Amino acid sequence: MTPLNIQEWQSLVRHYEDLKFVSMREQFALDSGRFDSFSQQCGDLLLDYSKNRITKETMEQLIALAEAAKISEWAERMFTGEAINNTEGRAVLHTALRNRSNTPVMVDGEDVMPAVNAVLTQMKKFSQQVHTGEWLGYTGKKITDIVNVGIGGSDLGPAMICDALEPYAIEGMSAHFVSNVDGTDLSTTLEKLDPETTLFVIASKTFTTQETITNAQSAKTWFLQFGTQQDIAKHFVAVSTNAAAVAEFGIDTANMFEFWDWVGGRYSLWSAVGLPIALYVGMDNFERLLDGGHEMDNHFRTQPLAENMPVIMGMLGILYINLFGSQTHAIVPYDHSLARFPNHMQQLDMESNGKVTNRQGQRLSYKTGPVIWGTPGTNGQHAYFQLIHQGTQLIPVDFVLPVNSHYPECDHQSILLANGLAQSEALMKGKTAEEVRAELVQEGYEGKELEALLPHKVFPGNRPSNTLLFPKLTPEMLGQLVALYEHKVFVQGIIWDINSFDQWGVELGKQLAKAILPDLQDGVEISEHDSSTTSLIERIRALRQ
Ligand code: F6P
Repeated sequence: MTPLNIQEWQSLVRHYEDLKFVSMREQFALDSGRFDSFSQQCGDLLLDYSKNRITKETMEQLIALAEAAKISEWAERMFTGEAINNTEGRAVLHTALRNRSNTPVMVDGEDVMPAVNAVLTQMKKFSQQVHTGEWLGYTGKKITDIVNVGIGGSDLGPAMICDALEPYAIEGMSAHFVSNVDGTDLSTTLEKLDPETTLFVIASKTFTTQETITNAQSAKTWFLQFGTQQDIAKHFVAVSTNAAAVAEFGIDTANMFEFWDWVGGRYSLWSAVGLPIALYVGMDNFERLLDGGHEMDNHFRTQPLAENMPVIMGMLGILYINLFGSQTHAIVPYDHSLARFPNHMQQLDMESNGKVTNRQGQRLSYKTGPVIWGTPGTNGQHAYFQLIHQGTQLIPVDFVLPVNSHYPECDHQSILLANGLAQSEALMKGKTAEEVRAELVQEGYEGKELEALLPHKVFPGNRPSNTLLFPKLTPEMLGQLVALYEHKVFVQGIIWDINSFDQWGVELGKQLAKAILPDLQDGVEISEHDSSTTSLIERIRALRQ
């Protein structure tokens, strides 16, 4: 049902008419307990949401809307295996992959946990064999390099996790990720590798994705310059739901790690798609990641909505997107090892909630998913923060701050943290004309010169942010963080009455690429396109070497 007709939505719209004039700076001055009122803990993870454009009434209204939209009931439907992905008729059970309680989770009358556990056991056995040297390359050498060949959810999640958990890497083991069909990606990766010690993990849910299959074929061709067809078994394994296609590609299905259609691509890092993670940091650390995800699942499933981190973050997003008109949301980790975190979150959020029809297929009259973007701090401060501080758009920011570094010998952490905190404080407070004037006077400015400079130095402030603070980036913490955002996206999808678990919007481009591919060959009659596409094809043909 359209949220616009929910009484709580209308009430929120009325409340916004006052809220838009409320100053966070004033609210902080009036209420010394604002942080206590607007912060939430889940295990070691703290969410400080006090620097948002909210009052107690706003939060009550947002939570009332979440209740009216039956968030808890929907969450239960997801956790218990109902086919809530209605356009594909599938359950949505990435939570079963990290269900460390091992309680039964039923899909079509069958408990999926034995199959989940069997694949975890297979991953454990295989990664241990690789680490101990029981599994050797075709010349008897130990595997030292894992190359994951996949794209989208079969790449971004495991790549982000491997980067983030680099301090936990098994000695002598390196992980590489090839995703782009641009040959540069594969070629520049292979250049550095020795086929005798390289293991390819071909990760594709469907095993039909053009980019992945092309890269996998080329990787096989490269390998066969050195090893034989028989040696492939020692150097290629697959992660997929499609055993027939894996076999057809030439990988023994004994070397295939299965997952299921109820695992969405962008939610699949918890499944066998996490194999490169287990190979890179060890299965124990992969299981710690699952533990963290499970902890967040329990929080989401059991905490009252008003104390529920994903619900709070999701509803704040609704406030900014649907009331304040924000179109983008920045995620800025103050941890260099989380450089790919915003990329993964971008796919998670934008592929899930980039929708223009509701669950019933009717066109929406309100905004849905925002553009998600970001890079690590402090780098972003010297690039795009200018616009966040003084630009004309309202861009909510999530600051992700680990207190302790894995590299304490390089004592930069205090500077990093001070910068992170300073950004959220500056965004909230801004700088008034009076404050700027006082500063300029002190610096010796006066008269016309002072007046000319003054407006440029004023910061409007009242710009919202969340801070996610935690002791250190451990596998458990990373698991919690990823699951937090997954559930946030889920909450927003329910409010907007959309199916967050399909992605039909990526299909048209795939179809057209297949149609254009033959047109690029010289001598072939170009099929029917618009004049722009046809002319570009002609130009490409002319310029091709
Ligand atoms: O094109 C989008 C998508 O379907 C993603 O949802 C998915 O993660 C990615 O392609 C890769 O798909 P596959 O794992 O089937 O190769």
